[in-house]
Amino acid sequence: MRFDVLTIFPAMIEGPLSTSIIGRARTAGLVTIATHDVRDYTDDKHRRVDDTPFGGGAGMVMNAQPFFATLREGLGLNEKDHDDAHIVLLTPQGQVFSQAKAAELAGKKRLVLLCGHYEGIDDRVRQTWVDEELSIGDYVLTGGELAALVVIDAVARLLPGVLGHEASSVEESFSDQLLEYPQYTRPAEFEGMTVPDVLLSGHHGRINNWRRQQSLVRTYKNRPDLLQGRCLSFQDGELLRA
Ligand code: ADE
Repeated sequence: MRFDVLTIFPAMIEGPLSTSIIGRARTAGLVTIATHDVRDYTDDKHRRVDDTPFGGGAGMVMNAQPFFATLREGLGLNEKDHDDAHIVLLTPQGQVFSQAKAAELAGKKRLVLLCGHYEGIDDRVRQTWVDEELSIGDYVLTGGELAALVVIDAVARLLPGVLGHEASSVEESFSDQLLEYPQYTRPAEFEGMTVPDVLLSGHHGRINNWRRQQSLVRTYKNRPDLLQGRCLSFQDGELLRA
């Protein structure tokens, strides 16, 4: 899968994208990630990429021209026909990103992520190019770069081969709409704190029951919204009551 990121601050994302699992996936050729500095495509002689908003008001708005030029010249895309590229605008005005959305995007061949700054991007960019607007949550960041990193990370880890264990992206929070159970590793006693006996018992049935119960209790306490309107099995009901 290929990702293209349009930004005026490529340095904000290049480090994280060269580190850890995503960095390794790039080196292994499992994903291709290209960053494009929108400022390189401005036709302004002072290399400006923003201007004051029509109608007045505080802040600056990013010009349409450098985004159009980056998409056309840098990425070779055509606004009338870019079927192979799914173009996403990161903005607090978008739909909230989720695990389900990450799974959907992982099915695309090419994702193009547009990062805005200041008071946003001239809306003609959205009208002309954008297939989908995404927000990573109900708060305002200084720009779309951190949001683009979140989307790339969540999508890339779902691609075949990116995580070492195929199972690890499946058996985790949100695949089942429940939060994950607590994990422990060696030593069995650390600074006087022990590990729940059941995890040392070697009894897989009891371990699975305990984990399911912990997931249910955590979800009930921390994210009751995830259980709203959901029908629990008789067994899950028993675990939650226990
Ligand atoms: N840009 C600024 N804030 C954002 C957010 N919450 N999500 C996506 N892009 C953003």
